[in-house]
Amino acid sequence: MFYPAIRKVLFQFDAETIHELTIKGLKSTGKSPLNIFYKQQVADKPVTVMGIKFPNPLGLAAGLDKNGECINAFAAMGFGFIEVGTVTPRPQPGNDKPRIFRLPQANAIINRMGFNNKGVDYLVSQVQAANFKGVLGINIGKNKDTPEENAKDDYLYCMRKVYDLATYITVNISSPNTPGLRSLQYGDALNDLLIVLKAEQKILADKYGKYIPLTVKIAPDLSEDEVKSIAKSLIDNGIDGVIATNTTLSRDGVEGLEFGGEQGGLSGQPVKDKSTQVIKILSEALDNKLPIIGVGGIASSDDANEKLAAGASLVQVYTGFIYQGPPLVKDIINGL
Ligand SMILES: Cc1cc2nc3c(=O)[nH]c(=O)nc-3n(C[C@H](O)[C@H](O)[C@H](O)COP(=O)(O)O)c2cc1C
Repeated sequence: MFYPAIRKVLFQFDAETIHELTIKGLKSTGKSPLNIFYKQQVADKPVTVMGIKFPNPLGLAAGLDKNGECINAFAAMGFGFIEVGTVTPRPQPGNDKPRIFRLPQANAIINRMGFNNKGVDYLVSQVQAANFKGVLGINIGKNKDTPEENAKDDYLYCMRKVYDLATYITVNISSPNTPGLRSLQYGDALNDLLIVLKAEQKILADKYGKYIPLTVKIAPDLSEDEVKSIAKSLIDNGIDGVIATNTTLSRDGVEGLEFGGEQGGLSGQPVKDKSTQVIKILSEALDNKLPIIGVGGIASSDDANEKLAAGASLVQVYTGFIYQGPPLVKDIINGL
């Protein structure tokens, strides 16, 4: 495949410029014959998780297709499921640029995007236009200017808007780039949020006559006790799945590298073991009561298998995909 050559050219440019160009290209070609440049056949490896049948266990992680503009393109690459978002009720610009940095020596990225997105109504229009029949996760968050005490209103607002279109909905409480968001992971704040969301799920399930699972995405920067406490809240509240993990605030593995000191969340190889560790703790604490979607530093089928061995039922990639492109999707699925 020619991705290594293409990457060499792409990586000459600023990361966000390339990201925007790629999204535009994928958006305009997803359903057209031009998708031949990235369309590929992958092995059928079906799994059923949360009552959903996935054609294979590898998904695209949230944040790459924040506005749901390229669903068909990512599906053509062979992903077994695609998670779009994080989307917020109202459009917002995110943080000042530059806000995304490649650290190739560490196969890593640091980002402080800050939930830049075109708002949930736009995402809904894109999902409707895609008319995608596969497994679609929609990842929801809160606007930056919504006070923490009103965060639940933003999640509820997005949930109501996307419920009828999503195969599952992810509640993102683990981005390090929205001030205060991660505090929703702890104690009463988490319980209070989950109680409200679970009640709304029931109302929406009755309204639409279908049950859409709710997953919660958590950070890698949690102590063992904190992970156990989250696991208990998830079980107690009847949450359907957990995604572990988001990016890390740690700088282990990138000290001294160019951009290693930038603020934001670190992803890729340096977060791999942290994420696997969280999955192991979760797996023991959850005792198979709800499934884990493993994400963080997966860059090969061995890495993916490691996450599955640690207790994940499904896996997702982001940074590995930026470095290796569509061939990685095929390699991982074939090696599972
Ligand atoms: C540039 C960038 C933007 C991201 N945006 C989001 C986001 O909007 N919502 C989210 O839940 N995770 C987001 N993530 C986190 C990824 O989905 C993933 O959890 C994390 O990067 C670890 O996986 P990886 O090592 O395969 O990248 C983002 C990651 C990157 C690198």
